[in-house]
Amino acid sequence: MKILSIESSCDETAAAVVENGRKVLSSVIASQVEEHKLYGGVVPEIASRRHAEAIVPVVNQALADADCTMEDIEAIAVTHAPGLIGALLVGVNFAKGLSLATKKPLVPTHHLRSHIASNYISNLELKPPFLCLVVSGGHSHIVLVEDYTKMKIIGKTRDDAAGECFDKAARTMGMSYPGGIALDKIAEEGNPQAFKFPRPVVNNAPYDFSFSGLKTSVINLIHNMEQRGEEVPKADICASFRFAVVDLLVSNFLKAAEDYNIKTLAVAGGVSANTLLRSRLTEECKALGYKFYLPEKSLCTDNAAMVGSQGYYEYLSGNISDLSLNAIATLPIDYR
Ligand code: KG4
Ligand code: ZN
Repeated sequence: MKILSIESSCDETAAAVVENGRKVLSSVIASQVEEHKLYGGVVPEIASRRHAEAIVPVVNQALADADCTMEDIEAIAVTHAPGLIGALLVGVNFAKGLSLATKKPLVPTHHLRSHIASNYISNLELKPPFLCLVVSGGHSHIVLVEDYTKMKIIGKTRDDAAGECFDKAARTMGMSYPGGIALDKIAEEGNPQAFKFPRPVVNNAPYDFSFSGLKTSVINLIHNMEQRGEEVPKADICASFRFAVVDLLVSNFLKAAEDYNIKTLAVAGGVSANTLLRSRLTEECKALGYKFYLPEKSLCTDNAAMVGSQGYYEYLSGNISDLSLNAIATLPIDYR
């Protein structure tokens, strides 16, 4: 069955056609990042307006690229939560209108579940149960994926998300939004042992993360150097900082896998594009004899193909909404 999927939770307007949850027939992304760069981050009001402008051409393009019309589509999946409310509402209302006009079922899809599902597209043999590290601009979770639509949060961040932390550090060094990608690139040239950053632990919660101390520590280091008139060794700071963030993510994730005795692991979300995180997890999982899955880099950041994949499994599980569907800014991954 073919699903038309729509994503508008942050600063990408995206639509895709996905067959049986695993085969991407088309995937179109209109990114607003160049405009948000001017402000150093996403401006919600601008995001909503750009989604409203882009949604019709993006959906039309996705149908055309898949050589489909709405006649060929069996359901419409849309990201309804979590995200920027005004941004989500554009996708949700468009999907509702389309569902009303075409009488196709409307499938509400959780954004983080969709990130996890990007793995089903890149790794056809992957099936639940598995443990997934979900690391994006807004979330850092360790999720037990018991089934396609049954999730349990094992650990999560108590403060900042990993992506947010990368972006703030990058911004302090003058890199444009979203700085995580630039920081990752510059880190390749630096020495990861040049600076020692803290590894904060959360008492009595071994799988939870805390990144705010690490973020403050890198910002203070840079500001102090600037105040002393010293040149900031960007590559070494990027490499050492990336090493610390990845260390925290990998150690808690592998500890959870060991304690829960799960030997199939995956990673998802924008930060799963990080070069060091990918190589560290690949190597360590291999050494431990675990199966480890990664989405291809193009599927790590926001897209609608992953929504079409998760939407398929949501549809099969009976998660179909009527036209009262609303957007929700905050919704836990295990909401149903
Ligand atoms: O999943 P995503 O596209 O959007 C959210 O749902 O939040 O994640 C975006 C985040 C940004 O913080 C961005 O800097 C980060 O993912 N990111 C990276 C890399 N590529 C994207 N962080 C570190 N290294 C990367 N290579
Ligand atoms: Zn995302």
